[in-house]
Amino acid sequence: MSKFLVQLSDTHIRVPGALAYGRVDTAGFLARAVAQVRALPQPDAVIVTGDLTDFGRAEEYAHLRSLLAPLTCPVYLMPGNHDDRAQLRLAFAEHRYLRQGAAGDSDPIQYAVDLGGLRLVAADSVVPRATHGALDEPRLAQLERLLAASPGTPTILAMHHPPFRTGIDQMDEIVLLEGAEALAELVARYPSIERIICGHLHRSIQARFAHTIAMTAPSTAHQVQLDLTSQTEPAFVMEPPGYLIHAWSEDGRVVTHQAAIGTFAGRIRFPRTVHWTSKSARPRSRGREPNSCGALSDA
Ligand SMILES: [Fe+2]
Repeated sequence: MSKFLVQLSDTHIRVPGALAYGRVDTAGFLARAVAQVRALPQPDAVIVTGDLTDFGRAEEYAHLRSLLAPLTCPVYLMPGNHDDRAQLRLAFAEHRYLRQGAAGDSDPIQYAVDLGGLRLVAADSVVPRATHGALDEPRLAQLERLLAASPGTPTILAMHHPPFRTGIDQMDEIVLLEGAEALAELVARYPSIERIICGHLHRSIQARFAHTIAMTAPSTAHQVQLDLTSQTEPAFVMEPPGYLIHAWSEDGRVVTHQAAIGTFAGRIRFPRTVHWTSKSARPRSRGREPNSCGALSDA
């Protein structure tokens, strides 16, 4: 039986009635995401990997609170470059993990929580008033202490800025620009890190990082345009929003799924010509086989 950590990201909530960039109803998108998560088998926890609000204002965090309220499982928050640590802590005062190891309201938000067979460790990559990310010496040292507290437990490390370049040039100017090499050395000392899960890119992207898999989540609202040619201006597109489900089993292995948010055609049963074997659990088609592009052709 697997357990589930749902990752929402880049919710960019504004005050009620306001649209992000004058066009995106981020609150409506988050409300639909929350409704979809509620329809899942009960997740063990939800994490929102930064850019919780658009401007880090108290009213925006109050709006976020109301939108997340229907979730009945534990919810963990962390800041992105659009957030304000002090306002986040004030708005979610009962989220005590937000103050782990912090002396002041504006100190970095780094914490570790036990999800039952899996640790969630959050690193704060935010540089106040900047768009790019960084992990300085004090934060890396605190992160090492968090990891060293339970080095053998399967761990998901969460941070807003991805520590890898994506190939989307305009976004690569604002990823984790400082501390990535030191982070890689740190991560290499902890083979129990199963994933590094990030936001910021508003797309699903995966890359190897040290021994592990680093990945970014889609936004619950708008997505960054996929441009690997550097020929267009930075832009967002209204591709289907989504979220990630990180499932782990008793042996600590983590499998990640991406889910789209919205209403789509289906559930449509496979035709009788497709046979499922109990041994392999793989579909076997009679008569027609998919070609290398996935299109059906006569076999
Ligand atoms: Fe964002």
